[in-house]
Amino acid sequence: MSGQTSGEGSVVSAGRIVAKLTAMAEDALFRAFGEAARGASPDVRPTTDARHGDYQVNGVLPLAKLMKDNPRKLAERFVAAFDTQGLCLAPEIAGPGFVNLRIDPAWLAAELGRAALDARLHVAPVAHPQKVVVDFSGPNVAKRMHVGHLRSTGIGDAIVRTLKFLGHKVIGDNHVGDWGTQFGILLWAWQAERDEAALAADPVGELERLYKVGSAAMKADPAVADQCRAELAALQAGDPERKALWDRFVAISRAEAERVYAHLEVEFDAWLGESFYNARLPGLVQELVDKGIAVEDAGAVCVFLDEPGLPKTPYIIRKSDGAFLYATTDLATVEHRIETLGAERIIYVVDTRQSDHFRQLFATCRKIGWHADFVHVGFGMMLGKDGRPFKTRDGGTVRLDQLLAEAEERILPLVQDKWPEADLAEQRRIAAKVGAGAVKYADLAQNLATDYKFDWDKLLAADGNTGPYLQYALVRCLSVLREHEARFGTTFEPDGAPLSLETDEEKALALELARFGDTLDRVGQQLLPHILCEYLYQLARTFSAFYAKHTILGDEATRRSRLTLTHLVYKTLETGLSCLNIPRVQRM
Ligand code: ARG
Repeated sequence: MSGQTSGEGSVVSAGRIVAKLTAMAEDALFRAFGEAARGASPDVRPTTDARHGDYQVNGVLPLAKLMKDNPRKLAERFVAAFDTQGLCLAPEIAGPGFVNLRIDPAWLAAELGRAALDARLHVAPVAHPQKVVVDFSGPNVAKRMHVGHLRSTGIGDAIVRTLKFLGHKVIGDNHVGDWGTQFGILLWAWQAERDEAALAADPVGELERLYKVGSAAMKADPAVADQCRAELAALQAGDPERKALWDRFVAISRAEAERVYAHLEVEFDAWLGESFYNARLPGLVQELVDKGIAVEDAGAVCVFLDEPGLPKTPYIIRKSDGAFLYATTDLATVEHRIETLGAERIIYVVDTRQSDHFRQLFATCRKIGWHADFVHVGFGMMLGKDGRPFKTRDGGTVRLDQLLAEAEERILPLVQDKWPEADLAEQRRIAAKVGAGAVKYADLAQNLATDYKFDWDKLLAADGNTGPYLQYALVRCLSVLREHEARFGTTFEPDGAPLSLETDEEKALALELARFGDTLDRVGQQLLPHILCEYLYQLARTFSAFYAKHTILGDEATRRSRLTLTHLVYKTLETGLSCLNIPRVQRM
């Protein structure tokens, strides 16, 4: 039987229970109600209370309203038309017209037995892969990376990796701020104020200082402001000396950022900063004026947008002094991504303070006729434990490299305690991974739209929805598998045979394992990594309950099946953490 394909997500594909049940329920709706049910969504979702089954079909109630019929009666017709295909037991009607579904344990046992043989755990790539650009991190030149960059970097990276695992063609692009008025200031300050010794000792620190000194001087003295503008104009006109200095500023900042990315284990597919689009800006603005999309207004060039929900102010793409803006560069960037890279979906992982900018950008693109699925994944601020902006003791911004170093220091004693026989370098290597993982995980684990309170004690806790807890759960699975090897002299290999799911703990664990594909689909659609964190945490807890109650390496009748469950938990945690890019360690 083939599923109806009413858009992505309802395509029947292996490793996805919700998608399969949805397709089956769509069939049943069609068979029971024919044309009357056209376009109706069965709305299949996991139940919140296991006593009501594993999944529920909520779509009959709204359909009854539409058909002006008794929902209970329609539910009965729906159930009679529902072909379980061996995936679930006979559906049950509950309340006014909900339909509850319970996964057939025999199906689950066979499915997981087979999935254990597959490196992808039966999570097949999506049926319709998209070309996606994810714009994330984007630090500015001459500014040191601080905690504010952690969120965009970690969330963007998790989105990139999850979409790649799902089979999409993804370009993770670091849109660094490497062009703009700040370079006039920097060039002036470099010539007037630079301190060679400081530059040698801490290059980015010195750039940051120069920028501050330059900004202050420019505000205080109109003559300096004029000189800064002249520097910028010379750079833009292609003066080789200024260009060489600019190259140097960019290289210094990049080297610093690369160190932070290396510690976070983040990589980019492209690194196309604002400067990459520079040459295109005058022509683009002219074309938009010629097409009547942009108009001149008091010397500036603007796009007037009157869509509901947009700011009243026009979108300015050229200032009256002829300068281009952040908005202009972003337009040229979209053009490149759609026309040269072929992007079908463009995702911006940038804090919510820029949401007006992105709304206007997307509306302008639609007006131009550049079509893609544009998404701004906005996130809240990083706050201290006290709910105020996260700052150092003396009120400065918290440097990202120092934050990661502190995580390592805090974790080190724990690693030394658990693994005293390793040498210090090895202990440090593990502490760095666990520390970076803990910091990243804490950021990913909660809904990204809200502000996030940074709290060392919470994020390093060995218990709860934390990086260390999941890293530890993974190590525990590994040690069971190692123990098997030590006792029986061979590595455990799953054989594809159905599991034997006798106890409640085994059944619960199996069902949780089977939900991995659905979870990844949801993250891919909603772009919310915390959904995956929550799932992995649930899985680890369900495994822990099973582990506490049952012997895995016991008698032969249960051993193979329980080892397969352990292997599946290991693989699922490993794959899930790899999508989130939380480092995994072999020992802890
Ligand atoms: N550099 C920008 C900032 O620090 C972030 C860039 C976001 N990406 C974009 N295409 N506008 O705010």
